[in-house]
Amino acid sequence: MKILAIESSCDETAAAVVQDGRTVLSSVIASQVEQHKIYGGVVPEIASRMHCEAICGVYEHALQQANLSLNQIDAIAVTHAPGLIGALLVGVNFAKGLALASKIPLVPVHHLRSHIAANYINNTLKPPFLCLVVSGGHSHIVMVEDYTKMQIIGKTRDDAAGEAFDKAARAMGMPYPGGVNLDKIAEGGDPLAFKLPRPKITGSEYDFSFSGLKTAVINLIHNENQKGNSVDKLPVADISASFRFAVVDILTTNFFKAAKALGVKTLAVAGGVAANSLLRRELERLAAENDCELHIPPLNLCGDNAAMVGCQGYYEFLSGNTADMSLNAAATMSIQG
Ligand code: KG4
Ligand code: ZN
Repeated sequence: MKILAIESSCDETAAAVVQDGRTVLSSVIASQVEQHKIYGGVVPEIASRMHCEAICGVYEHALQQANLSLNQIDAIAVTHAPGLIGALLVGVNFAKGLALASKIPLVPVHHLRSHIAANYINNTLKPPFLCLVVSGGHSHIVMVEDYTKMQIIGKTRDDAAGEAFDKAARAMGMPYPGGVNLDKIAEGGDPLAFKLPRPKITGSEYDFSFSGLKTAVINLIHNENQKGNSVDKLPVADISASFRFAVVDILTTNFFKAAKALGVKTLAVAGGVAANSLLRRELERLAAENDCELHIPPLNLCGDNAAMVGCQGYYEFLSGNTADMSLNAAATMSIQG
């Protein structure tokens, strides 16, 4: 079964063709990073307009790369939630137009479910497994009971991990996208140079919180500046390394605590922050130490792309999840459905 997938939830316009949920026949991404860089972050209005400009070309390119025409496609999958509403609407309406004109079934896909599905590409991974989902907007520990049946075990109470990385990077004057830059700079720093706090959370023991840590690192940057260090003399490598160490510690501690409590030995990670080099190394080390099987998507499948939407779309289609022409986009939606 060949699925054409469309993704436009944030600042990448993407299209892909995926066969039987596991094999990527084509994947095209038009990134808007350069346009948002001058503003230090994604400007929703600009994102929507750029999706409008890019989507037809990206779609045509994806079919061409797969050497297929639309009448050889069995279903059209599209990210419909969560994300920037104006950005999502572009992809959703484009997919609806295609489905209406070609009479091909339309499959709505949840963005975070598709991040998880990036782990299925060229892989034999099957549910059940426990997944750490870490992106710019979400930080969840999800029990993937089946391809379309998920349970949230823990989640952030405030900022998402990616958001915390971006804000810390911005406070140090790093260009957007901050998380990637902070990660690179942290490689040359000492993770123990600065002691940063860990959150104290009551209620669910698997929930995260990053706002206290974010405030602490911003205060640390201000204090360092007041010591007479100008921004260009800040010990950015050491601050970045200490901050990254704290974020990864918070994420991995709760993730492995949940895995032990649930008795799950098959683990995965997903989302933009899954590209973080320390997180990847620590997950590998802890998985080996705890005798767990760990799945990490390749770097090119961690960030937003349509291949992962085609994978999840396949399993959504098999479970009967199709939409009619009343399909709408939603800025927020639980991964549990
Ligand atoms: O999944 P994604 O591409 O978009 C959303 O669904 O939000 O995630 C983007 C987030 C951004 O906050 C970005 O800074 C973060 O992932 N990110 C990273 C790294 N690469 C991307 N954070 C830390 N280290 C990285 N290497
Ligand atoms: Zn994403």
